[in-house]
Amino acid sequence: MTDDKDKGLEKGLTSYGDRDFSLFLRKAFIKGAGYTDDALTRPVIGIVNTGSAFNPCHGNAPQLVEAVKRGVMLAGGLPVDFPTISIHESFAHPTSMYLRNLMSMDTEEMIRAQPMDAVVMIGGCDKTVPAQLMGAASANVPCVQLVTGSMLTGSHRGDRVGACTDCRRYWGRYRAEEIDADEIARVNDQLVASVGTCSVMGTASTMACIAEALGIALPGSASAPAVTADRIRVAERSGATAVAIAKSKLTPDRILTAKAFENALRVLLAIGGSTNGVIHTTAIAGRLGIHLDLDRLDAMGRETPVLVDLKPSGQHYMEDLHRAGGLPTLLRELKPLLHLDALTVTGRTLGEEIDTSEAFAQNVVRPFSNPIYPQGGIAVLRGNLAPGGAIIKQSAADPKLMKHEGRAVVFENAEDLARRVDADDLDVKADDILVLKNIGPKGAPGMPEAGYLPIPKKLARQGVKDMVRISDGRMSGTAAGTIVLHVTPESATGGPLAWVRNGDRIRLDVAKRELELMVSDTEMSKRRQAQPVREPTAPRGYLKLFLESVTQADQGVDFNFLRK
Ligand code: FES
Repeated sequence: MTDDKDKGLEKGLTSYGDRDFSLFLRKAFIKGAGYTDDALTRPVIGIVNTGSAFNPCHGNAPQLVEAVKRGVMLAGGLPVDFPTISIHESFAHPTSMYLRNLMSMDTEEMIRAQPMDAVVMIGGCDKTVPAQLMGAASANVPCVQLVTGSMLTGSHRGDRVGACTDCRRYWGRYRAEEIDADEIARVNDQLVASVGTCSVMGTASTMACIAEALGIALPGSASAPAVTADRIRVAERSGATAVAIAKSKLTPDRILTAKAFENALRVLLAIGGSTNGVIHTTAIAGRLGIHLDLDRLDAMGRETPVLVDLKPSGQHYMEDLHRAGGLPTLLRELKPLLHLDALTVTGRTLGEEIDTSEAFAQNVVRPFSNPIYPQGGIAVLRGNLAPGGAIIKQSAADPKLMKHEGRAVVFENAEDLARRVDADDLDVKADDILVLKNIGPKGAPGMPEAGYLPIPKKLARQGVKDMVRISDGRMSGTAAGTIVLHVTPESATGGPLAWVRNGDRIRLDVAKRELELMVSDTEMSKRRQAQPVREPTAPRGYLKLFLESVTQADQGVDFNFLRK
């Protein structure tokens, strides 16, 4: 039997030593906002409002909050919205990833501390959805993830553009002096045509698809653009669903199971999703004590082709995926590879939801017989340079560089790269391998998206578009190139990357999943002794907590004390 004292406004009373007085006081305060006793007896649905003027990806948050409230009230609940940290990629120094775990702690503790029977979390920009799902998984209060939705695409001289694959494409052309300052300024006006998240299959779109595949967001909810009526309807339905799961007590641990995570990884591979999706999904799973194995991901990748034709692996944008039926169109295609009995937030299984979706002719999601890329978008590499693994987004890499041996051109850190990469006297050739150290979880700190090293200007001018690039950092999901990321362990903690020198030979063989530094073990231990690595520390504050607690990429870059 349900204990009424564990519901609604009576949940989690503040401690004054007298339970009845605590409730009396709480009701007195909220009545100051004009609520009646009738309203205060309803199931309380929290709404995490991450609207922020620093976060244009969440610029539609006010409309979404209003629609969620409408859905909650139509279903007989009492909606109460509250703020948490909001993070935008371009407005977070030194990098948004540095703050993801802080946002997850904020989300977890505010859901736990405040009286709510269920919660709708409005997130969107890259780190916000992972942070919310990590927090909600730990708080284990019934929850629905609602994403803000993608931005619209713009147009520059008839060329359709969207953030931020096209930001990089045009910036590359500007660096190569193919277009001038005037034109790049005009492009700048068109790349982000409305509020909402990046319009390609970057990290935000990837995490929206993963949330839906996990079953924690409504079926069909990932793809509706931010400024559409469909997005508002998803918000209203999310509110109503939250009331239903408040009553049925459908907690995240029943949805976010090992099977659900396998489904999410299948989707990540088949959408040509962001490499960041691996780190975030690992971190969310880690909150539930579920270990995601990189070798298993790689094995799944060998049997899961990329089917979604979106940039940066393909050609379309999120609004096109929406018109093509959204994620259910892909899930129907992937059906033989999915755990169909995984439960979703609707109370029905993923298989039941797929069966109710409508099929029609479209050209954004390919059939198995005609994939965009024959394997999953992401491959896991191993070797003496990355004993704990590294990854490459093979679907967005240059096929000619997938098997490549070259001379290392080494940059010690991000500042060194910025100082020297465009120097005319930089000793670099097109078949060299660019190596960047110290941009891992502790190195930078926060593992910034600096793994997309720019092509040195002298080579860009010659028309070089891609080179093998290796680092212990991340890259934006909107970026493309032959780029090896997440080298683990990172150089700042004494991973082998720390001792790579200019002129060393490196061999990459993606088909064999190998990443080898062709330097002998004896030479490596000599270098280790001659140049010991000192891990970064901080005297106080969040940075101290971060540096002392952050895990490596293979554990999701979560704090060790937050994992289950
Ligand atoms: Fe927010 Fe791309 S910057 S989703």
